[in-house]
Amino acid sequence: MSKPHPCSIVIFGATGNLSRVKLMPALYQLENEGRLPEGVTIIAFGRRPWTQEEWLAEVTAMLEAKYPKGLNQEAFSRFCAKLQYFQGDLQDDASYQALHDKLCHDEVCSANAQFYMSIRPAEFGMVIDKLGTHGLLNEAHGWRRVVIEKPFGYDLLSAQALQKSLAKHLKESQIYRIDHYLGKSTVRNIMVFRFANLLLEPLWNRNYIDHVQITHSETIGIGSRADYYDGAGALRDMIQSHLMQLFALVAMEPPAGIDDQSLRDEKVKVLKSVRPIHQNAVHAHAFRGQYTGGHVNGVSVPGYLEEEDVPQDSTTETYAALKLYVDNWRWKGVPFYLRTGKRMAEAGSAISIRFKHPPQHLFRGTKMDQLQPNWLLLGIQPNDCLKMEINVKEQGTTMKTRLTSLDASYHAPDKKAGDAYEDLLLDVMRGDQSLFLRYDEVEWAWRVVDPVLKVWSMERDFINTYPAGSWGPRGTYRLFESEDQFWRHSLGVDGSDVSSEAF
Ligand code: BG6
Repeated sequence: MSKPHPCSIVIFGATGNLSRVKLMPALYQLENEGRLPEGVTIIAFGRRPWTQEEWLAEVTAMLEAKYPKGLNQEAFSRFCAKLQYFQGDLQDDASYQALHDKLCHDEVCSANAQFYMSIRPAEFGMVIDKLGTHGLLNEAHGWRRVVIEKPFGYDLLSAQALQKSLAKHLKESQIYRIDHYLGKSTVRNIMVFRFANLLLEPLWNRNYIDHVQITHSETIGIGSRADYYDGAGALRDMIQSHLMQLFALVAMEPPAGIDDQSLRDEKVKVLKSVRPIHQNAVHAHAFRGQYTGGHVNGVSVPGYLEEEDVPQDSTTETYAALKLYVDNWRWKGVPFYLRTGKRMAEAGSAISIRFKHPPQHLFRGTKMDQLQPNWLLLGIQPNDCLKMEINVKEQGTTMKTRLTSLDASYHAPDKKAGDAYEDLLLDVMRGDQSLFLRYDEVEWAWRVVDPVLKVWSMERDFINTYPAGSWGPRGTYRLFESEDQFWRHSLGVDGSDVSSEAF
């Protein structure tokens, strides 16, 4: 693995939510662990007329909120020495000219620069256009890379338009479309798990797998993000991006190599094989809901419509579930169920794979006639783990069985995994695009969800609701193909709705 290069990291939107919660903490952690290379300068591009001291006070508050147990003071002062505040206006040409001059003439700034778009998606095109016009994307003296947060576009057409405007100023090798799910440890482990073990590959297909579920649930609401979220909704916010990536990694064919292009070729191939959802079949394939007031972990919380800045008549979905079929040799007929929701009963992400029943009911008529199917469970968060459920006979003379879980959890309990952003930020400095999205992946993911978005956008007078703290709207069960399919809410052996071992 190559070393991360020194560079200037210019963050647009440095005072926003993403920067507070993810970027600044990740950069501080890298410094704390001695992984941030020498020669890195972190430049916050912001409108407010802040002095350097005021900016440092702001960052201190961000980090203290993230790490209430305290900061490593030595690492923190090294980190502060790398921070700079740059006052500028996103719309103003003079600000970009001044930024250009700073990157060229300020001795502490490296010739390499990455521009992090932690701003509203509607502003991506304009900012990149201005960066390009003012020569900031020119690679004559060092590399210039742009990191783009999701959502990449708002639907298929806007993604195509955005791509066109980026291509005017950037080569594909300069564009890092980030999906932080690809930096999560279990997500990266899906590849190892599937392709470094012979055991699973023969079973990984429609002959043995009944269906696959990919779930991301959150207990938090939308907080102060109404400005972005109300225009996006759960399908765009989580499914089009993060969950479609998980889906692609589970369903793709083995890549020719582990280089970034081979991997992305396979992901695109499987996305292309997803059976298109026709507009008149949307209700059979997708379900949406919005949370009302309720209780989460015993605390009373408001409904979506009562959240700050949410319009009273909003029908934006905070829960979305989608059923997909992949029309290829491996997966024909196997449903993939993807779902996500805010203000759900418990927080977690997991991939749950249910196997078929054995072809012969050998134990019919005995106490074993209720045999449970096997499940393979990949927990992504809060704990990354790998489990397989199998039937065993209980001790004693009667033929009584129970399900047991083979637990292949692999990380030391005392070792907390770093945040996905830490590794991804270093990958940008290394020039490694394998965990970033290529444009055709994004486009094909939009193609999958676009018909659903279109229908939902026309149905603006009604949305199903679910109480905060529940597992989502009841009607979502109608997506299932057969009566013995149900949402798997836990990684516990009984697979029941309530378990102490939720995702
Ligand atoms: C973001 C979404 O991309 O991912 C958020 O915009 C969501 O709405 C978040 O909460 C979930 O990420 P994580 O890493 O906390 O699971």
